[in-house]
Amino acid sequence: MHTATQERVIRPARNILGSLRLPGDKSISHRYGMLAAFAEGTSRFSNFSTGADCASTLACMQALGATVRKLDDGVIEVTGVGGHVTPSSEPLDCGNSGSTMRMISGLLAPQEGSFTLIGDASLSRRPMERIRKPLEAMGARLTLTEGHAPIHIEGTPLHAMEYTTPVPSAQVKTCVLLAGLQTEGTTTVHEAVRTRDHSELALRAFGAELTRTADSVSIRGPQTLHALEAAVPGDISSAAFFLSAATIFPGSSLVLDALGLNPTRAALLDVLTALGARIAVLNLEERNAELVGTVQISGPEEGMGSTEVRGALAAQLIDELPVLAAIAPYTSGGIRIRDAKELRVKESDRIALVAENLRAMGAEVEEFEDGLDVPGGQTLHGATINSGGDHRIAMAFSVAALRAEGDTLIQGAESAAISFPEFFDLLDKVADR
Ligand code: S3P
Repeated sequence: MHTATQERVIRPARNILGSLRLPGDKSISHRYGMLAAFAEGTSRFSNFSTGADCASTLACMQALGATVRKLDDGVIEVTGVGGHVTPSSEPLDCGNSGSTMRMISGLLAPQEGSFTLIGDASLSRRPMERIRKPLEAMGARLTLTEGHAPIHIEGTPLHAMEYTTPVPSAQVKTCVLLAGLQTEGTTTVHEAVRTRDHSELALRAFGAELTRTADSVSIRGPQTLHALEAAVPGDISSAAFFLSAATIFPGSSLVLDALGLNPTRAALLDVLTALGARIAVLNLEERNAELVGTVQISGPEEGMGSTEVRGALAAQLIDELPVLAAIAPYTSGGIRIRDAKELRVKESDRIALVAENLRAMGAEVEEFEDGLDVPGGQTLHGATINSGGDHRIAMAFSVAALRAEGDTLIQGAESAAISFPEFFDLLDKVADR
């Protein structure tokens, strides 16, 4: 499918002011949608992600026999297949979504029938060996196309195993757990760096039992999942653009309501605090074991400091690094990012594109294989931004553009809709011009 590319002009702002409630978290929506479609019974979700990626997950699950309806009040209703999918004669189109492709592979590998998974040009370049290896070790039969999609799966019963993920990846962990859910015996995933744990929390919310240690999670199969009613917390990775925008304006004041604050996702709040932002979290509560709260942020009174992101923090902040790098020139001491090689195999090579676009705006930046050094104290000018069709690049540079001199043109602005279709409208709402 080819979508026409759109350009968007971002004018500088004087400040960021207001309050917002953000659409549902993309990671949680993928999991709730996929598990509901696989479970027994009918699930209902309010504030489900509006992004195209989660629509890809729902469309694939519909093609596999689940029923999905959007109710008048915006609630998404999913009736599941009760543990047995119906193979589809058409390939399952995962669009731009790595989460859909990697997680669904684990769900389908132990099912009966054959399945083909395809994706768009960006997804077809992304590494899939990382799921083939553990699934094959469990006895799965799947073939890739030179390490990538299309993926062909011949479903077959699997055997349980213990697996250590070689790169930190919640998608790979989930892929193995979804296969383990349907496999006799105990499947365990060890990870050196703890990645987002939405799958563990969601599986429990759907009635599955699993056990966790500091660095592993085990599931004993087979188990049946049962329907869930839930409100999806606001997406903190979408909030990251607004929190970062508030951080670059000293007099800013922004409130984000009902935001997901799962500790495996919320490291950005610490980083922005270290940069001088003043952040308060109110009304903290748990919903299906996911933390949700209100975040109040105002910009630093005395300029932004500097920070370094490396090691486990780089893995936890992986989706937020583009916007952090994009605002880094406005800090006083710069931002250094390392151990983030994974950024090169996201929807685009995010290290290369961040460097290219910072340079286009007149910034000095040094690129490394696994990160970037962006000096502080720099002034940016408006420029033409190459988003590379990557939603997070388009949004990150829209934020940088708010404090640049002159207008910025974002090419491929439509890509924001992959995770956050409302982004530009909400930005206009809180940008004081
Ligand atoms: C995600 C995991 C991360 C992240 C992606 C969403 C998830 O990818 O970058 O946006 O929902 O599990 P990896 O698992 O490849 O690190």
